[in-house]
Amino acid sequence: MFSLPLRDDAWLCPLEVWHTGEFAAHLDRAREHIRPWVGPAFVTDDLAGARATLRWYAERRAADGARLYGIRRAGTLVGGAMFTDFDAAAGSCGIGCWLEPAAEGHGLVTPACRTLLDWAFTTRGLHRAEWHCRTENDRSSAVAKRLGMRLEGVRREAWPYAGARHDKEIWAVLAHEWR
Ligand SMILES: CC(C)(COP(=O)(O)OP(=O)(O)OC[C@H]1O[C@@H](n2cnc3c(N)ncnc32)[C@H](O)[C@@H]1OP(=O)(O)O)[C@@H](O)C(=O)NCCC(=O)NCCS
Repeated sequence: MFSLPLRDDAWLCPLEVWHTGEFAAHLDRAREHIRPWVGPAFVTDDLAGARATLRWYAERRAADGARLYGIRRAGTLVGGAMFTDFDAAAGSCGIGCWLEPAAEGHGLVTPACRTLLDWAFTTRGLHRAEWHCRTENDRSSAVAKRLGMRLEGVRREAWPYAGARHDKEIWAVLAHEWR
């Protein structure tokens, strides 16, 4: 299985259905940390849920759509980055990411997302990449800024979570800005 070096002993690698056990164990460490900030379908509780997520991405990848990648540090799956959507015909994609708590603050996710963006813009010729996060998610918007994205707007009360509705920021970078 191939992997790309990120920094130190951290690697970016495909995350596929055969990684279900490893992904489920990682979610046990990450679940409560990521729950407020990611889409609810991603926060599953058991092996069947983890497998369903990996299968959802595998099916979309086969259709040149969304894709999921893991970040391993010292051999352990600690998080990842994904194309939440990927539309070559429209020239646009969405990027997302997550980490378990112990992996936060080590500069892992920004280079992982940079790798995805570089592939989207340089290899695939896309024009636009978006990043969506809750307005209160300072660590996420900091990644968007580090990636050279601009805040384009706020969708007010567009993110339901825990019985309340939260504002959602839309960040984006364009191909000519990436170059
Ligand atoms: C969003 C999230 C992935 C960001 O993780 P992160 O670790 O802050 O981001 P990076 O991997 O880019 O690392 C940057 C941090 O590593 C630190 N760092 C340490 N060593 C570093 C190095 N060698 N190089 C670069 N940064 C380094 C930076 O100083 C920065 O920390 P700081 O903000 O405290 O100064 C993480 O907070 C998370 O998983 N949150 C919950 C899920 C989530 O919100 N997902 C996004 C949904 S939109």
